[in-house]
Amino acid sequence: MEKTKRFLEVSIFKKIESESKKYYEKNEPGHDWNHILRVIALCKKMMRDIGANERVLIPAAFLHDIICLPKNDPNSSSSSSLAALKSLELLEDCGFSEGEMIDISNAIEDHSYSRGRTPRSLEGKILQDADRLDALGAIGILRCASVATNMGGAFYDEEDFWAKNRLYNDKKFMIDHYETKLFKLPQSMNTDWARKEALKRVEFMKLFRSQLVGELDGDDFSLNLSEGASPKVLI
Ligand SMILES: [Fe+2]
Repeated sequence: MEKTKRFLEVSIFKKIESESKKYYEKNEPGHDWNHILRVIALCKKMMRDIGANERVLIPAAFLHDIICLPKNDPNSSSSSSLAALKSLELLEDCGFSEGEMIDISNAIEDHSYSRGRTPRSLEGKILQDADRLDALGAIGILRCASVATNMGGAFYDEEDFWAKNRLYNDKKFMIDHYETKLFKLPQSMNTDWARKEALKRVEFMKLFRSQLVGELDGDDFSLNLSEGASPKVLI
């Protein structure tokens, strides 16, 4: 009986996977299928430690970015609501109860940063944390560069890197996004594990930014990149 139940669960997840995958095929690398796989891996890790309803969390993770408007689109902040609505259509023939479909859709709608909402459910909170963690660390650096350059932005302002004499403009300069959003993410995490992981990832991004500034200044850091050694960088 337990074996049959597990088999049905796996087939439901396989169906959601194949239904959702096509929505990510043309996305820039910041929101591609690999982003979804990383978010799912993080969700599974947190689910093991905290406990959550897998039948809600995993489909929500698969579907959370099926509609993802570019950040410079005037309707960008509606992406999660549109994805939540679309997900209800896709979930219809997959064998979920009405209650599960609503919970999945709510978790998708609530995960968005721009909506500024604390998710209604534990599954929504885990999804939001996983999605935010994937915006940080080494992968966060790559994703941020991808999103910024796809909007036609530059990596930094060569006249005023630190925005000392201008307002931050993260639509124009990628590095500004670290301050306008990314470095604030640790304090927005719902779970302790995600908060700690987010802080580690932010530290790495600060090191990266220092290294970048040093290179732009033409400093010689005498990098020691032998195994296990950290580059010496300005902090
Ligand atoms: Fe996402």
